[in-house]
Amino acid sequence: MTQDARTMPDESLLARRYRVLGRNSPLFYDKPLNLVRGEGVWVYDADGRRYLDAYNNVPHVGHCHPRVVAALTRQAALLNTHTRYLHEGIVAYAERLTAQFEPELSMAMFTCTGSEANELALRIVRDLSGGMGVIGTAHAYHGNTAAVIELGSVFTPPEKRGPHVRTVPVMDPYRDRAGRSDEELSTAYADDVKRAIDSFAAAGVKFAGLLFCTSFSSEGLPTLPPGFMSKALAHVHAAGGYFIADEVQSGFGRLGSHMWGYQKLGVVPDIVTLGKPMGNGHPLAGVIARRELVEGFTSRNMYFNTFAGNPVSAAVGMAVLDVLEEERLMDNALRVGRYTLERIARLADKYQVIGDVRGAGLFFAVELVKNRATKTPAPGEAKRLVNLMRDRGVLLSRIGPHDNILKIRPPMPFSTQDADLLVDTLDGVFRDL
Ligand SMILES: Cc1ncc(COP(=O)(O)O)c(C=O)c1O
Repeated sequence: MTQDARTMPDESLLARRYRVLGRNSPLFYDKPLNLVRGEGVWVYDADGRRYLDAYNNVPHVGHCHPRVVAALTRQAALLNTHTRYLHEGIVAYAERLTAQFEPELSMAMFTCTGSEANELALRIVRDLSGGMGVIGTAHAYHGNTAAVIELGSVFTPPEKRGPHVRTVPVMDPYRDRAGRSDEELSTAYADDVKRAIDSFAAAGVKFAGLLFCTSFSSEGLPTLPPGFMSKALAHVHAAGGYFIADEVQSGFGRLGSHMWGYQKLGVVPDIVTLGKPMGNGHPLAGVIARRELVEGFTSRNMYFNTFAGNPVSAAVGMAVLDVLEEERLMDNALRVGRYTLERIARLADKYQVIGDVRGAGLFFAVELVKNRATKTPAPGEAKRLVNLMRDRGVLLSRIGPHDNILKIRPPMPFSTQDADLLVDTLDGVFRDL
């Protein structure tokens, strides 16, 4: 390794990182990992120790999938330009991608990140509605741009959200049910959306739309009562607004039963935003929307994004879809997901700290509580567990307004043997917690 003059000879990688990136640049785990290689559902650290990746959805079809790497290197060696030139690969990818959606969601716009996709979606709904008011949930993350972070209630306190942002309370059927039927609960949650819309009207802010992550991931992956989303959308559309479905975490078959999270919620959005899994680690993201939205917006606003949807990105995106299809990874998510969920749920018979286990496909939430009757969140236990799992070679994380929910979301080729290793390791860690 070449020694830069600014690097002290014996300085650790962590110390060097702190010096150039700062201590506030987030790192996972009390003992941060130095990962140097990945393959399938496995990652390897600099000492050659391997870890089961039960967390990352970016390497959707598996870390360093050879098919994706080959597509990337082949196109990178041939040509990389941008979308201002005609290119067969870009058009073919846009056709293939839009074919994954309902016929009315027929147009694609490319970005490099999920943040940019949500930023663009906000611009579109604001342009079309002529309003500025947008609604999210009270514990959401949709990206890091100036407009999008205003909706990022995980990090942005109410006083910094601006006059054109409203939030609805996090839907938490585990706590909110209070004897109510699905019908009553879904109506109550939809009424929260209506109240937020009404509060814009009362403040003289024109309503533009609603932005939800379709698995409500940051919110803690709640199992929502059926009918909620269609009731909420009826309010949104009646008020002249649009629904932006953020599929950055839920999309590309993650939930097993459907390609897109909004399909599981039983609605068709006006706009869909895509990111993380789309390029298996390559910066590829985008917006899918109805024709009249894209054409209306682009007739009044020029949109160009130098790196977005370039020929290399298009080749990568196409390879990801090929692998998803050929390796039947959505079916795998459904089958292995059911097996994993059942095995995790059985742990709740042994450990009182597990308050609730929920999920869909290969996306699981394990909610830790201090007391099952009071459902008091147990964030300390969750933090300790995530670190112990890392020490024992399995990567996961935590989510939720109280940071007490284990977030398990492995790459899609996760097998039943991988699930056994995950659950057996969890079992041991719960025992020692
Ligand atoms: C639901 C959701 N939307 C958007 C984003 C932003 O994506 P990116 O980090 O690619 O900008 C994230 C990132 O964590 C996300 O989880």
